[in-house]
Amino acid sequence: MTKRKPPSAAPRPDEEGFRLIAFVAGETRSYPLPRKGSITLGRSEACDIRIEEPSVSRRHATLHLGPPFTLEDHGSVNGTRLRVAQEQGGGTGKIEELRLPPGTPVPVEPHTLMQIGSVVVVLWPASEPLAPGAPAAAPPRAVVSDPSMQRLYELAALVAQSQISVLLRGETGVGKELLAEAIHQRSPRAQGPFVRINCAAFSETLLESELFGHERGAFTGAGRAKPGLIEMADGGTLFLDEVGEMPPAVQVKLLRVLEDRKLLRVGGLEAHSVDVRFVAATHQDLEACVARGTFRQDLYFRINGFTLTIPPLRERVAEIAAVSRYFIERFASEQGRPPPVLTPEAQVLLERHPWPGNLRELRNVMGRALVLCRGGAIQPEHLVFDAPQKPAEPSRAEVPPTPFPLTSGKLGEDIAALERQRIQEALERCVGNQTEAAKLLGISRRTLVTRLGTYGLPRPRRR
Ligand SMILES: Nc1ncnc2c1ncn2[C@@H]1O[C@H](COP(=O)(O)OP(=O)(O)OP(=O)(O)O)[C@@H](O)[C@H]1O
Ligand SMILES: [Mg+2]
Repeated sequence: MTKRKPPSAAPRPDEEGFRLIAFVAGETRSYPLPRKGSITLGRSEACDIRIEEPSVSRRHATLHLGPPFTLEDHGSVNGTRLRVAQEQGGGTGKIEELRLPPGTPVPVEPHTLMQIGSVVVVLWPASEPLAPGAPAAAPPRAVVSDPSMQRLYELAALVAQSQISVLLRGETGVGKELLAEAIHQRSPRAQGPFVRINCAAFSETLLESELFGHERGAFTGAGRAKPGLIEMADGGTLFLDEVGEMPPAVQVKLLRVLEDRKLLRVGGLEAHSVDVRFVAATHQDLEACVARGTFRQDLYFRINGFTLTIPPLRERVAEIAAVSRYFIERFASEQGRPPPVLTPEAQVLLERHPWPGNLRELRNVMGRALVLCRGGAIQPEHLVFDAPQKPAEPSRAEVPPTPFPLTSGKLGEDIAALERQRIQEALERCVGNQTEAAKLLGISRRTLVTRLGTYGLPRPRRR
């Protein structure tokens, strides 16, 4: 069946309205643009479009509204770039980065990726939907295809059968919460509630009252008795996220619940029995917290009946394509359109990225790619990686941009440098054992040996 286009009421290109979309911190923002004039972009409040990101200068660049549209850099610290895909003998793949000379307006086309510091912005015709369609229908599902993850999920299914407390470890965004849910679903408590709480999101008093509940009149404002989340998880599982952030006073109370399976509400006199399975998660080094004295050792042993460590995404490269396709299909179906193809060139780039934000970052990248590919195949130029998370912004300093950390201006060279470094690191970690290092890198041993030759790295001797 073919859809007929409606009679052409579309605006002519020269009178069409535009908006600017910006990918900031995993979010897609959309700013309607006026038809004429100039729009300043920067970190300062005085700018027309304010981008509060450390790599963006206070007054970074100006977009002169066309046609033709031009972009002008104002001598920003981290520069303004255009990212242009090169058509090459039938296949795309090469991306050219053009750093704008300060003070000179340079023409830009709609849909071209413009990089302001490390933030990517795109000029977008207002008539083209950005396509957030129906809300997610199906709950998120874990794609498990890397052998290391298959083993981990098998182990989790075994552990789920018992009552034992489980501690989930792994970097941010690796899928700890999804695994916690999987444990609940595979446990004999699957019919019971799965309750989650983020221990980092509450002050000490609030966390205590959220977890343990309170009796009427326990404190000012406690007009009614309220059960806590531990009670609400009775017969099911309580997921304690960011458990390393739990304040000491709450740790003591929780320890009692874990030891006696009895719970006392705030302001209560009588303890109630509870039947709860605890799954906790942390991306912190809990042993170090114990050593520092910020986390109780007795509680550490109680919640750590069994530890499951989820490897970071860069160590399960074999899974990246499958998870990418899962996100593509999911987003496309939410938007009610057919899923675009992921080109092999884009897949290679995904497999080489170090993924500091793990699966959350991959999800964000795929969400943006679906916008940028406009129904066509997903090419390398549609992959916009997350800006790195900086712990704290120095007041005036502007950190160098890194989604495309181009010192040389050539993406390929940066990727090669990164790959060389990762190979060296892997060999060091595996004390020169090439088979182990290849496994860690998610490549075959033969590929590793070839790469050693390519990068002029000596083949380690057997130790
Ligand atoms: N194996 C997977 N397959 C598909 N999606 C996944 C997988 N693992 C994680 N995700 C998705 O990635 C995102 C991050 O996962 P999750 O919230 O479970 O990570 P986390 O380890 O709890 O992160 P944090 O430490 O930041 O709390 C979620 O949207 C989740 O649905
Ligand atoms: Mg989490």
